[in-house]
Amino acid sequence: MTYYSFTAVPDEIFKIKTVRARMVLDSRGNPTVQVMVITEAGGVGIANAPSGASTGKHEAVELRDGGKEWHGKGVSKAVENVNTVIAEALKGMDVRNQREIDMKMIEIDGTPNKSRLGGNAIVATSLAVAKAAAATLEIPLYLYLGGKYADTLPVPMLNIINGGAHAGNKLDFQEFMIVPVGFKKFRDAIRAAVETYHELKKLLKQKYGPSAVNVGDEGGYAPPMETIREALDALVEAIKAAGYEPGKDIALAIDAASSQFYDEKRDVYLVEGKAYKRDDMIRLYKELVEEYPIVSIEDPLYEEDFEGFAEITKALGNKVLIVGDDIYTTNPERFRKGIETGSSNAILVKVNQIGTLTETLEVIKMAHRKGLRTIISHRSGETEDTTIADIAVGFNAGLIKTGAPARGERTAKYNRLLEIELELESPYYPGIEMFLRRF
Ligand code: PGA
Ligand code: ZN
Repeated sequence: MTYYSFTAVPDEIFKIKTVRARMVLDSRGNPTVQVMVITEAGGVGIANAPSGASTGKHEAVELRDGGKEWHGKGVSKAVENVNTVIAEALKGMDVRNQREIDMKMIEIDGTPNKSRLGGNAIVATSLAVAKAAAATLEIPLYLYLGGKYADTLPVPMLNIINGGAHAGNKLDFQEFMIVPVGFKKFRDAIRAAVETYHELKKLLKQKYGPSAVNVGDEGGYAPPMETIREALDALVEAIKAAGYEPGKDIALAIDAASSQFYDEKRDVYLVEGKAYKRDDMIRLYKELVEEYPIVSIEDPLYEEDFEGFAEITKALGNKVLIVGDDIYTTNPERFRKGIETGSSNAILVKVNQIGTLTETLEVIKMAHRKGLRTIISHRSGETEDTTIADIAVGFNAGLIKTGAPARGERTAKYNRLLEIELELESPYYPGIEMFLRRF
């Protein structure tokens, strides 16, 4: 643990020796970018770019090849950009200078949405740089990022019923989550969530038949349900069947991902075959919060409606988290506007939406300074890369969204958090505390 000692470590060893990229597959079988950074000391950092399906309009652009191969989703140009331009620019730089490295890539890219080098090329490099620094220091990534004060395990929000763009069913809302809030330890929270997930499986099989327990992109079931209440009822029932009290032990959360069912021309949301105006949507959420133990609602309205977001935050923000995902796309400029207009009391943080670790940290700091909650999030297209687990602990985010406790790319993150919990001297699990605050 040289990090905290005063042993003289020559700066030379932190210099970047190699930056190398290659193509790997993500959990949907699509190509994505993997970057390996090696320092002069031999410290190796490897990171993969994730990929969304219900992407926000303002996200950093994934550079894809187009054409016939891989149905246009090839990443050979992005890989090439890392192996030539980025590798050349970063060679010899000190791997600990994350900001300088990230700014250099932004400068070379020169576009507002990272479309020249590719958001996928940049994000994988940015994360690999941090991991190479931690490896060179021979400490875990969360400790490198947060130091000794990084002691908080995030409360997981597990998406166990999938709808929207992540599933082939008729559910309009994208994610129906359980949130284990009534526990003192992360491992107990995960156990309760897993038990509930298994009860849900039994229950769905009984009600809808064996094909109901096929899983969607994030490992949640994708049953042939049609209504929001049907999904929420099933969660409540599963929590009870597992022997827990809904709301006290395990609460519920929703990601509506409402830009996906918003009809811009008519200015209406199409929910369960009916057209809803903004006010109707807000009324619907109010009813749902009355009827169910919901603690968090993500993207309740469409991604440009800052005003509507402010309205719903005013109406429900003292009861639940109103989380901005597609509206902010982890972009400091958009988030600043959100803070100024009171558009939410929480933000979803996805490193690949903005493209660098430095900008991600900037957003997290902005949120924490204003007392807003931060949820570190995976994407629906993931890999076995577990960096977001370390980021959640390292930056004391308090909350994480990384899918159901199923599919290797999802459980990898939970397994990493279980490992971190064992490593920490006095790990802290905030549970319901993340939601009690009155905003
Ligand atoms: P995505 O969905 O990764 O497909 O964008 C996740 C989310 O909307 O939170
Ligand atoms: Zn979302």
